Amino acid sequence: MVKELKVTKVENSRLDSVDFNNIPFGHVFSDHMLSIDFKDGEWQEPEIIPFESLKLSPACSALHYGQSIFEGMKAERGKDGDILFFRPDANFSRLNKSASRMGMPNFNEQDLLYYLGKLVELDQAWIPTLEGSSLYIRPLYFGNDSFIGVRSAQTYKLLIMTGPSGPYYAKPVNVYVEDTYIRAAEGGTGFAKTAGNYAASLYPMSLAKENGYDQILWTDAKEHKYFQEAGTMNLFFVIDDVVVTPPLSDSILPGITRDSFITILKDQGVKVEERNVSVEEVFTAHKEGRLSDAFGAGTAAVLIPIKTISTRNEKIELPDPNSRELSINLKKHFVDIKRGLAEDKFGWIYKI
Ligand SMILES: Cc1ncc(COP(=O)(O)O)c(C=O)c1O
Repeated sequence: MVKELKVTKVENSRLDSVDFNNIPFGHVFSDHMLSIDFKDGEWQEPEIIPFESLKLSPACSALHYGQSIFEGMKAERGKDGDILFFRPDANFSRLNKSASRMGMPNFNEQDLLYYLGKLVELDQAWIPTLEGSSLYIRPLYFGNDSFIGVRSAQTYKLLIMTGPSGPYYAKPVNVYVEDTYIRAAEGGTGFAKTAGNYAASLYPMSLAKENGYDQILWTDAKEHKYFQEAGTMNLFFVIDDVVVTPPLSDSILPGITRDSFITILKDQGVKVEERNVSVEEVFTAHKEGRLSDAFGAGTAAVLIPIKTISTRNEKIELPDPNSRELSINLKKHFVDIKRGLAEDKFGWIYKI
């Protein structure tokens, strides 16, 4: 049951201070946010409040023990002026799965969708219209006990903030195959979108950056033999005209872009295989001229071509991204669906 939504509006909007022709990803936040607390065993009244700093106890449990999960999704302005959300139900379902893994209470996904609609409706002037830009939506949910001791928190805060955002990557990426550090292991939390997974990736990522790479390609924890995913993207390779992507497991984030790409490609009659793909297979295919494309897929980046792949001993350069018809067409079709310009054949768009 949807609870009554209390709305407190900002006194002065910050909208005029935003240059919509230059909105680097993740820096600008809309005027309002949604806030819902969990305490005494139940979700409290939801509120829309000004986007502002939080007052937290220094003993805030999420800061100490990491019960913190999040989501990343987007909304666009459709050609008829409607506000179009892309698969928000899938993001809320994944947030609940992350919550379960992290020992946090679930919430009602339909109710949250309703509150999200109200938030974005209120801040709709913040939805950018420039091509390649979207309203990025960041739900954040964390343990908020003022208590030191390892246990699941008894109080939580769920926030949704939004902000206009430009493209995540400006150009094709150079990636490094990580063979020392791991992102996730079997039985761990890799499939959950939880803060610790990202924290653990930052040091290896900074080493890769120092060496001139844009991203890490993670490999399996046991042998560093099979590809898993990239920092904030799932991975796709095109070998012998077959699209190959690592299979979902408890050590891979089940990307919504990944799922959408697979669905679109299969619908277009393209052969897609979800199976283990080894570093050796990709490098051999390249040498034999059978690797025509490799790209990352994620909400923030959408589809980003991989330019070069390096291991500690070898580097391969993939075909010119401008010649990669499959991924160029895939990205265009995907973006067109999100913007309401192509038929929403799979029922992915939620309109308000
Ligand atoms: C680790 C990781 N893998 C994959 C993805 C892609 O997931 P999605 O397509 O749902 O954004 C993301 C981004 O959310 C991510 O953080």
